[in-house]
Amino acid sequence: MPQDIHDKLIMLAKRRGFLYPSFDIYGGVAGFYDYGPLGSQLKNNIETLWRSFYLLNDNCIEVHTPTITLYEVLDASGHVEEFTDLTVDCTTCKQSFKVEDIVEEGATVEQSVKNHRVRCPVCGATLEGAHPVNLMFSTTIGIGKTRDAFLRPETAQGIFTNFHFLYRYAREKLPFGVIQVGRGYRNEVSPRQGMIRLREFSMAEAEIFFDPQDKTHPLFKKVQENKLYLFDNIKEWKVSLKEAVNKKLINNQALAYYMYLTQAFLFAAGVDPKKFRFRKHADNELAHYATECWDAELYSNRFGWIECVGIADRSAYDLNAHITASGTDMYALRKFDNPKTVTITKIIPKMDVLGPKFKGNAGKIKQLLEAMEVSKGTKKITITLDGNKIDIPKDCYDITEVKEKKAGEKFVPHVIEPSYGIDRILYCILEQSYHEGKKKGEEYRILKLSPVIAPIKVGVLPLISDDRLTKLAKEIDEELRAAGIATYYDDGGTIGRRYARMDEAGTPFCITIDHESLKDGTVTIRERDTTKQIRKEKGELAHYLRGQIS
Ligand code: ATP
Ligand code: GLY
Repeated sequence: MPQDIHDKLIMLAKRRGFLYPSFDIYGGVAGFYDYGPLGSQLKNNIETLWRSFYLLNDNCIEVHTPTITLYEVLDASGHVEEFTDLTVDCTTCKQSFKVEDIVEEGATVEQSVKNHRVRCPVCGATLEGAHPVNLMFSTTIGIGKTRDAFLRPETAQGIFTNFHFLYRYAREKLPFGVIQVGRGYRNEVSPRQGMIRLREFSMAEAEIFFDPQDKTHPLFKKVQENKLYLFDNIKEWKVSLKEAVNKKLINNQALAYYMYLTQAFLFAAGVDPKKFRFRKHADNELAHYATECWDAELYSNRFGWIECVGIADRSAYDLNAHITASGTDMYALRKFDNPKTVTITKIIPKMDVLGPKFKGNAGKIKQLLEAMEVSKGTKKITITLDGNKIDIPKDCYDITEVKEKKAGEKFVPHVIEPSYGIDRILYCILEQSYHEGKKKGEEYRILKLSPVIAPIKVGVLPLISDDRLTKLAKEIDEELRAAGIATYYDDGGTIGRRYARMDEAGTPFCITIDHESLKDGTVTIRERDTTKQIRKEKGELAHYLRGQIS
């Protein structure tokens, strides 16, 4: 999209109340956007559609957890250590840059920085001394005796830290999926891509827990003949889910299924299939927790291909990390067909010794010891509690062999995670649906938003502002809203201007009430994209429009 058209879209978004730059009256700050009245409704509609795919189609459950997250959680998850961008600071003009954004194409980061070939995009000085910078916003909880915390960089950890509760809620059966929709925060180094790189943004994430021995999905068979739009860094091609899994292009059914669900959701939201593809992460691109990852990318004429959804196989990474760091039992049980009697070697903790020695930690240590695997020959036992290694003296436990009836065996579930950036999706949809041209010598602009996400579904317009027409139009407007259809009543200006306003707002239908309506109770319905008009009885409107919208 040429710069001028992008600017026109952003102007339209501001004029019509989709998006406003945050803190505008104080000069604004990069990486923040406000949603205005239409933008908020558009975002709600995208999230509602998203929820219908995950809560209804896929039968997931939903949680809400705090955006302020304890240091210990993000330390265990690896974010304190690993959630960094390689950054370089300009000693001349004091700006900082993400190295990835400014190295020459084709050169490696190390080469470019070492060879002094990287220049400051602002003042032209030579840049050196690249160093990793953590992207999390840090904060403290409490006054006086405080605890360290961060604003969460992803919603996922709130799901992992509740796994043991949620597993019980799901009646201890796998697979099951948990979703969370909410804000994520990243102190991006130098965001210059508007809505694409925000410092506070909306995420919609699903964490689906699987038995690692069975990464199938109950709905895979139903959708396996559908085609996925793949890109392998050279060519784009379409391949069925079945073929992709059989040929190991995608490692397992579960991952392929969630890629399909992502694609189906984005197409339903109005994404142009020609501007959509899945790109596989190369090994050196993978996040610290991922073993395989596919990005759903949407094409922006202004910014190029943009990652809007990451679908990752996180394996047992996070649950293992929280088991080790917190000592909580976050295992699942793989049930045997018939209970087995087995001889096992067990640690029997002696609470009368552990108690006085370890005081408040004794209970947790007991749990950790009981969960440990040992053999008769085990000599030394070390546990990790809250990140500290502790040697447990021999007098604190016995090691014995016992016969036990086992109903099954314990394991740490694996996770497939589709992670959606709602703002990026919303921006790309706005861009992809923007059309402009000239009609009768006048410029016009249309947002061809899909009816299901359009903020206003129906404009209600009396042809002229005659009292009898406005009265009937207001009645129809009220009836449609009572039937759950978002409307906008407008009797100001010429009918042409009012249609144009609704086109810019992305409203898919306009109803016009004219003198014939007073005589026979019919109104015209104008379709935004074709400008075709049909007449309908006013009593049929709600039913007809609901059919068109869903
Ligand atoms: P990028 O490489 O563009 O920084 P990422 O790989 O860090 O993105 P993920 O960590 O996979 O992104 O985050 C999941 C999703 O969250 C992304 O697919 C994207 O849609 C969204 N997202 C990530 N960072 C931002 C941001 N700064 N602003 C808006 N959305 C974001
Ligand atoms: N939860 C996925 C991510 O933040 O990348």
